[in-house]
Amino acid sequence: MSRKRVAVLISGRGSNMAALIDAAKAADFPAEIALVVSNVPNAAGLAAAAKAGIATATIDHTAFGKDRAAFERALHDVLLQNRIDLVCLAGFMRLLTPWFVGQWPNRMLNIHPALLPAFKGLDTHARALAAGVKLHGASVHIVVPEMDSGPIIAQGAVPVREDDTEAALAARVLAVEHRLYPLALRLVAEGRVTVEGGRCRIAGQPEPDTALLVPPDGA
Ligand code: GRF
Repeated sequence: MSRKRVAVLISGRGSNMAALIDAAKAADFPAEIALVVSNVPNAAGLAAAAKAGIATATIDHTAFGKDRAAFERALHDVLLQNRIDLVCLAGFMRLLTPWFVGQWPNRMLNIHPALLPAFKGLDTHARALAAGVKLHGASVHIVVPEMDSGPIIAQGAVPVREDDTEAALAARVLAVEHRLYPLALRLVAEGRVTVEGGRCRIAGQPEPDTALLVPPDGA
């Protein structure tokens, strides 16, 4: 089977993008990172992508003023020109219209730093700390028009520690993100993810039965 051509959309440092680029170096990875697009000129991730030999493009949304549709048409054109099969949002800080999302049905993924549907939106780590949850984490989901709401492909959980700071918790979650996004992209690129009734079904994956207890019992 030919490798799926993936575009990664970023706005910033691009550490998830880098994790996807690294994973796709493996000969048996079913996708290649064909393009990295940033809406922010000089985003740190652009330089990292170029250094890794990946084609990059910048589509500065500010150049389109309030015309969100024109920005998205420009973005869509670049994706078509590059014969992209799958789109991965990785810290891409633009809301997308239903039109754009509709161009990529079940073919656009996003990573969110929380165990969805908890803590949609921004400042997830601070909100998790304030809520006093004992488990936090990250989710990769299929993008639908409503923000952070699509069918969940994969999730990774981490314990929240008594003495956690926002930065410490964010770093613990980020390490999980870097494992989770390649895993989720692999499943989608292999055609093992089907969406039924708003839920993702994953074919041919062992079902884990281990529980993560916080605090652990018997400690
Ligand atoms: C990540 O925490 C991701 O989950 C969120 O934005 C952050 C992007 O970080 N959507 P990076 O640019 O991938 O380093």
